[in-house]
Amino acid sequence: MKVNILTTKKSKLSAVDLSNLGFCKYYSDHMFIANYEGGEWKDFRITPFEDMKLSPACTTLHYGQTIFEGLKAYKNADNEILIFRAQKNAQRFNKSADRMCMPSLPEDIFINSINELLKVDIDWVPKEKDSSLYIRPFMFAQDPYIGIKPAEKYIFMIICGMAGGYYSEPVNVKIETKYTRAVSGGVGYAKTAANYAAALYPAVISQGEGYHQLIWTDGIKHEYVEESGTMNLFFVIDGKLLTPPLGDTVLDGVTRDSVISLCESLGINLEIRKISVKEIISSIEDGSLTEAFGTGTAATIAPIKMIGYKLKKYKIPEVPNSLALKILDKLNDIKYGLGEDIFNWVHKLM
Ligand code: COI
Repeated sequence: MKVNILTTKKSKLSAVDLSNLGFCKYYSDHMFIANYEGGEWKDFRITPFEDMKLSPACTTLHYGQTIFEGLKAYKNADNEILIFRAQKNAQRFNKSADRMCMPSLPEDIFINSINELLKVDIDWVPKEKDSSLYIRPFMFAQDPYIGIKPAEKYIFMIICGMAGGYYSEPVNVKIETKYTRAVSGGVGYAKTAANYAAALYPAVISQGEGYHQLIWTDGIKHEYVEESGTMNLFFVIDGKLLTPPLGDTVLDGVTRDSVISLCESLGINLEIRKISVKEIISSIEDGSLTEAFGTGTAATIAPIKMIGYKLKKYKIPEVPNSLALKILDKLNDIKYGLGEDIFNWVHKLM
């Protein structure tokens, strides 16, 4: 794969406030671009991060034929760059592409494109505690066409932004019982813009009520919890860790999958099963629910401190030595190269 590289004349790195990274407040100096045309991926290039020129009739702007991924690169104690589970993201990218009638991108192109971009922007991987470089690969339809059909031309790009914490504190989430994120047969499992756009309105309402995010329930009866805004969900009830199953309405989170594997290796009892809203509320009330947390690439593992349901706010007590923290520590050890990578999740940038 030949990549043409045009580097920036003026890096923006010196303007970064490393003590206050936020989440993707600072984009790295360069971006990766490839075009899909005539049935093949071509013109692999790295250019300075800049605005793009698109036709106003570009189908993505009208019909949303677009998908994305999110993964992170970390710096270890020897200043080497470790990229976490790129292959899993490549696989999910293609599942999303398939559902959205978009061309697949060979996994080696996905991973090499990330590697090549990071080699150019290597200084953008921060070393501050708990920080990383968030990598955002995405693909969108390029055809200038107002009718509805799958496009013929696509663009694949990668941009990167520095990441501190996504949430700065444990989160408040509201169980949504009116609006629906996904129904079976829809696009809920795909990482596509529509899922996020449809979630904005109910999420904004909940933010006005003091919540950070929603807990989405099944789209038919709102009886079972599915996932949270940008995270998959875990609960500890009666000492057992529980998470809802995937199906086609829930995003197959890479962090969720990693937590499940870690639980097996740590001997933590985990059950994947449907969890009803009723069970959550009654177990908060009788004290058997002792932890709730969300998992996601951006959010990592985010403890939940309050759950709202039908105008009532239920506080989740803070526990010392929480499972969430235990799992997060193990996960971070692997991501930052502090512990053995027993699952072969990390690849080093060469
Ligand atoms: C991620 O966790 O990578 C996500 O996609 C969340 C994002 C929408 C900020």
